[in-house]
Amino acid sequence: MKPKSENSRVNPHSAETPLLAVRNLKTWFPIKRGLFSMTAGHVRAVDDVSFIISRNETLGLVGESGCGKTTLGRTLLGLERATAGDILFDGTSISTLGRRQMNRLRRHIQVVFQDPMSSLNPRMNVMDIITEGLEQFGMIEGSKQEHAARLLGEVGMSPDAVFRYPHEFSGGQRQRISIARALSLKPDLIICDEAVSALDVSVQAQVINLLLGLQKGHRLSYLFISHDLSVVSNIADRVAVMYLGQIVEIGKTSDIVQNPLHPYTRALIAAVPVAGGKKIEDNVVRGEAPSPASPPEGCRFHPRCPEVMAVCRRVPPAELDRDGRKVTCHLYEQPAAMHGRS
Ligand SMILES: Nc1ncnc2c1ncn2[C@@H]1O[C@H](COP(=O)(O)OP(=O)(O)O)[C@@H](O)[C@H]1O
Ligand SMILES: [Mg+2]
Repeated sequence: MKPKSENSRVNPHSAETPLLAVRNLKTWFPIKRGLFSMTAGHVRAVDDVSFIISRNETLGLVGESGCGKTTLGRTLLGLERATAGDILFDGTSISTLGRRQMNRLRRHIQVVFQDPMSSLNPRMNVMDIITEGLEQFGMIEGSKQEHAARLLGEVGMSPDAVFRYPHEFSGGQRQRISIARALSLKPDLIICDEAVSALDVSVQAQVINLLLGLQKGHRLSYLFISHDLSVVSNIADRVAVMYLGQIVEIGKTSDIVQNPLHPYTRALIAAVPVAGGKKIEDNVVRGEAPSPASPPEGCRFHPRCPEVMAVCRRVPPAELDRDGRKVTCHLYEQPAAMHGRS
């Protein structure tokens, strides 16, 4: 039987309720200065981000290093505090949950990080690593070893691995162990933060295939974070492109890859040729990203944008619906708004 608090959700498990809905989320870090640690400003790591993830869906999140991807993931996991906005899990705002309910929710959102060497405790054997959460939640079925062996089987590893330690495995196998641990608590959503970025290309493909198989078997949703659009396009149903704390374009993967609208998305595709995607040679993103502590006025991308217009320097663009996707760029506004073109 389900605990009462889960039944009191606004609209439990309705087909229309997205598994995750993020609304105008901001996660800012204060910059402290001086003897009295005065707040001198904020790093706007996540700055007004909205999106949904449906059940059984993979949303890719892509953008350069430092654009706020990890902070966004950590905020969803409850590891960072949101400065503003709302996170709804299965229709319920997590800001309304008490501590016990929040702990229960934690089980439903799991994470796989880039570097399993630092996220797997080197002094614990594989059995203890992948059953630690199960023990906390009293969810072990049969013996601990049996349960661990079953989970290892799910990620394509031999049951003999239970008594071995993380350092005895390759990077790809360690990542499989991390996935088994994430899977152990029967989550609905797994956040994969650069989960395959440290692996060789052939191993990356194996781990992505594993994730795709597990998704089918368990009706999982993924937020798949990577700086590499070519990796994201191999797994994601939809892709969100993040720039300096904001989502600048979001839509179906095939649309984003074959017909990118935002100049930043085009630049990302030019920088990394994507299978089946157009390669736009003369549109490589220029220069360094500005600091999220003092983002540029107007459109945040304007200092680097090859298509910059006068309006872009002054006015932040609104999000527009265009060909079934959302893009935040003045280029796609009605012609009247484009008179300021430089
Ligand atoms: N705990 C923190 N305190 C202050 N600034 C942070 C903290 N964590 C991340 N940042 C800053 O927030 C921005 C986004 O970082 P991050 O979310 O790690 O980006 P990404 O994962 O896309 O590389 C960066 O400018 C980073 O320096
Ligand atoms: Mg990161």
